[in-house]
Amino acid sequence: MFPATGTIGAATLTKQLGAWRPDGGPCPARRAPRPAYLALAEALRLLVLDGRVPVGTALPSERALAAHLDVSRTTVTAAYAELRDSGHLQSRQGARSVLTLPHSVPAEPADTGAEADLIRLNVAAPSAPDQIVHDGYRHALECAPPYLAGIGLYPGGIRALREAIARRYTDRGMPTTAEQVLVTSGAQHALRLVLDTLVHPGDRVLIEQPTHHGTILAIRRHNARPVAVGLHPEHGWDLDQLEAVVKQQNPRMIFTIADFHNPTGLLLDEAGRARLCEISARYRVPVVVDETMAELALDRPAPRPLASFAPRGAQIITIGSASKTVWAGLRVGWIRTETSPDSLTAARHDMDLAGAVFEQLAAGYALDHLGDFLPARLDSLRTARAVAADAVAEHLPGATTSAGVGGLCLWVTLPRPVGTATAAAAAGLGVRIAAGSAFGIDGALERNIRIPYSLPPDQLARAVELVGAAYRRATGGTTASPDLADQLVV
Ligand SMILES: Cc1ncc(COP(=O)(O)O)c(C=O)c1O
Repeated sequence: MFPATGTIGAATLTKQLGAWRPDGGPCPARRAPRPAYLALAEALRLLVLDGRVPVGTALPSERALAAHLDVSRTTVTAAYAELRDSGHLQSRQGARSVLTLPHSVPAEPADTGAEADLIRLNVAAPSAPDQIVHDGYRHALECAPPYLAGIGLYPGGIRALREAIARRYTDRGMPTTAEQVLVTSGAQHALRLVLDTLVHPGDRVLIEQPTHHGTILAIRRHNARPVAVGLHPEHGWDLDQLEAVVKQQNPRMIFTIADFHNPTGLLLDEAGRARLCEISARYRVPVVVDETMAELALDRPAPRPLASFAPRGAQIITIGSASKTVWAGLRVGWIRTETSPDSLTAARHDMDLAGAVFEQLAAGYALDHLGDFLPARLDSLRTARAVAADAVAEHLPGATTSAGVGGLCLWVTLPRPVGTATAAAAAGLGVRIAAGSAFGIDGALERNIRIPYSLPPDQLARAVELVGAAYRRATGGTTASPDLADQLVV
């Protein structure tokens, strides 16, 4: 039996499930396109696949969940049985059932075996630029001898990479030295280090809503409290509102994605950057700006990095990553601070000691050669974005997309608040997609789904077509045509 590592109560689970019912309303009986137990099982499966409820969590009893969801106990019993059959739940008599992942899910490479037909619209990450990764590792081998003579542990990162990162900042209009840079194992790791250093359990952390899903997970994991300020899909940041929340709630930290925001693609203008820096100085609150997407400018270039607008007294910590410009498989990210990042470096001593030398050497090479492959990558993304937008217009009539100008995602507002049910139905059609609620707190953003356009265009068009079918299922409208149903991939 898989050991339980935590529990979730019926009230919290009900909130997390959002509008899971096939028609988004309390009474699925009218035109239910499929049984409620299956919709509930799919929604629960999605929670664990999305990471919103961790593997190992013990679920509430069938009776308690049925009472909270206002469904019959038989529905919950059947949903749990369905999850047991698919390997997502383990049960033992007298103990609570525990969420698991099926052993049959192949670990890697992810694109073989049973998973091969699944379309992964739940990740916004491009594949590797072959040539540059190849050249980068050849360069790493050539540079290796002096590193091999040492023990290979560089807690702050190898100097060659820190210099390459500093050069990128300087080129983007913010003079930076290698001493200001700490190399991390990706931006997500960078955020964990920042939280470890700045935030105490129970502290409030201000976030934009929507925001990157991993940010919410990291804040929660740290036992801090995310406080959301809405980000308008068309008009973007409301910094008056943000300042009011800072005054009222006294957050310990503000987290922002100012450049080609994930999931909306929005870009904070120069005036907004300056204002956010002033708020940092006036209220003595650090701003952590995640620039993971900063180099993915599709319609217009980003202004100078946010930290370059900082007046005296502001504390701006910048997080970056090679994951979107180069490849997430490198696991290379970084933190840039105004002075030296010593306390952040110390925070990694009990975490992972240091990053891998060869990956750092390859990443440094790739960053120094961005000009060789990034323009072509941006062209492909523009094409893919147009394909995704056309497919949304065709298959999700009435939906609108955010006014993003770069990045990797379309943030789609659906005509009806059935984001979770749509994602759950899409999983049944062979497409994994993140519901809007993954990017917000307390079950908000039910009208949204995120459509990344990092997949090849033909897969993307097909994926959106299936998401359209899933939306129709979720709203109880016409179900997929027989033609589409024949091609279901589970
Ligand atoms: C805004 C943002 N921050 C951080 C991350 C995590 O990046 P990394 O792969 O560098 O950990 C992502 C990945 O999607 C992201 O979009």
